[in-house]
Amino acid sequence: MQSDPDERPLSRLKSPSIGTQPRRVKATFIWPFAIVLTFILAAFVATAYFLEVRVRDRALAERVAAVSKLVDQKLSKDANLMQAVLRTLMGNQAIKAAFASLDREELLREAGPLFETLRADHRITHLYFNGPDLVNLMRLHSPGEFGDLINRETMTKARELGSAVHGLELGPLGTLTLRLVVPWQGANGLLGYLEIGEEIGYLVDEIRDSLSVDLFVLVDKGFMLPQQWQHGLALFNRQGSWDRFGTRVLVAQTASQMPAALNDPVLASLSAGSTEVFRDGGRTLHLAMLPLNDASGRRIGDFVVMRDITTLQKTFLNSVLAVTLLSLLAGAGVLGLFYFALDRVERDYQRQHDLEHQLLRLGTEHQRILQIEKLSALGTMVGEIAHQLNNPLVGVVNLAQLAEREADDPARARELLKEIRRAGADCHALIQSMLRFSKVSSFESKPTSMTEMIEETVLMFRQTESRQVQVEMRLPEQAVVLTVDPILIRHALFNLLMNAAQATADEGAIVIGLDPESNPDSGVPGWLLSVTDHGKGIAPEIMDKIFVPFFTTRSDGTGLGLPVVQHVALLHGGYVTASNRTGGGTQFAIWLPREPKLTQKNQLD
Ligand SMILES: Nc1ncnc2c1ncn2[C@@H]1O[C@H](COP(=O)(O)OP(=O)(O)OP(=O)(O)O)[C@@H](O)[C@H]1O
Ligand SMILES: [Mg+2]
Repeated sequence: MQSDPDERPLSRLKSPSIGTQPRRVKATFIWPFAIVLTFILAAFVATAYFLEVRVRDRALAERVAAVSKLVDQKLSKDANLMQAVLRTLMGNQAIKAAFASLDREELLREAGPLFETLRADHRITHLYFNGPDLVNLMRLHSPGEFGDLINRETMTKARELGSAVHGLELGPLGTLTLRLVVPWQGANGLLGYLEIGEEIGYLVDEIRDSLSVDLFVLVDKGFMLPQQWQHGLALFNRQGSWDRFGTRVLVAQTASQMPAALNDPVLASLSAGSTEVFRDGGRTLHLAMLPLNDASGRRIGDFVVMRDITTLQKTFLNSVLAVTLLSLLAGAGVLGLFYFALDRVERDYQRQHDLEHQLLRLGTEHQRILQIEKLSALGTMVGEIAHQLNNPLVGVVNLAQLAEREADDPARARELLKEIRRAGADCHALIQSMLRFSKVSSFESKPTSMTEMIEETVLMFRQTESRQVQVEMRLPEQAVVLTVDPILIRHALFNLLMNAAQATADEGAIVIGLDPESNPDSGVPGWLLSVTDHGKGIAPEIMDKIFVPFFTTRSDGTGLGLPVVQHVALLHGGYVTASNRTGGGTQFAIWLPREPKLTQKNQLD
């Protein structure tokens, strides 16, 4: 069974249960927001980095392809030029005759000046006249050496095919030479072979100028001897060391210096097809590799293509830095705004939380006060009952003692017994009145004609009241039917009429009114049943006590009349008011709702 909340003992009243710490709004939102911002920024930087790597790699790959194409183009262009030179030379009858007759002196005389011109103006470095058996007849670039067998790849291939053959060949000194061998047919068959060659050291410089990349030409050590390479180093004023790399050796380069970081592991990685980036003396370098094949198609070494990407990287880094800084600033701004907005929300939240907390505390306090009030009202009531009963009972005891003592005087004893009966009757009246008060709690409402009920009550009042005080009824003409408990309303009205009569001497009629009136607080429509007298009025100092049970200013009053009236009004969902009128007298009014709104008993307790 559920007990009335108001009737809980004081000890069971709980303190406020709302959490004392409100939620931290800022911390809940700011951190995830900051993490998301950081994540976006990190994603941006990572994306920018990968894009830069792709752009950088593509640019280098394009240059490597261009290097390969340019090398091929230049070699075939030079080979064509050399072929034209040889054709001109073969058209010279004097040279032809000298070659056919194997006259070395004549050959040198006829072809020597032409070779000097070619060497001076067209980079031609070699010119051979070889016999059909590939034995050298004349080296115009070194006339003292002859009679040896020339069995280089280009030569043997030209003999095999019987046509012109050109290709790159690695010389013993580490020089790369473009050679062209052309068979020379005479009137009586093959005269022999002409071989012309140029060293292609110039080629790498031209490629550097056209493509803005540096080249290092590395050759496998298997194709050279260290002494010869050293000899070539001194002869061609090259740089480097035989031991710099494990399996390769440098034979040509465009850069003044080879980067220190270019070592065997880097070469191995480049050889596997990847690219490498490293820092070298304040520069950022990007490297790739391209195979170097000789005339027979053998891979004799590699071109290392090196691109300086310092400026590119600096620009990229500066752009990323600028965008990151701007993003950070913007993020910080948004975060700041967000922070202030959340700060306000948090403060509002805190205020609301405090308010709820206070309200809860007030509610608990209120319940505590109600409880205390009830207990003190109960104390007052018990005291009043005891007081009210005590007076007649003391009288009864005293009178009974007197009667005992004066039992010999029957007349006196009878008189005393009469007094005792009267005191007992007073007690009985008080008990009756209290019983009536307690009966008010039983409540049975039904549609009731208010005018009829008022008229009946006035009739009853007239029969009870001996002084024949005038009662005037100012009631509406149409019937007013309200769902009320007629017995209780009649009882309340009767009490008000009795009070009005008791306050009135001969000052005029008591007026009963019934007027439509809405509840001033809720606006609910209802009726106002009023009793107005022209009596002495209520003193201001007792105005707030008249509804307290047992409060009375009359010697024979119980002080339960008005509490009953108030109880009845509350039971019907209404209320009761008391006010002094300006011209003298008092008005009591019971407001009742038009539609029944029955109040639970326990809500009124
Ligand atoms: N119409 C009125 N004019 C002036 N004073 C009034 C009026 N009605 C009530 N009072 C005052 O309010 C007090 C309380 O009234 P209440 O009806 O509760 O008790 P009572 O009339 O004194 O006793 P009981 O009703 O038991 O005979 C009265 O003693 C009186 O002082
Ligand atoms: Mg009364």
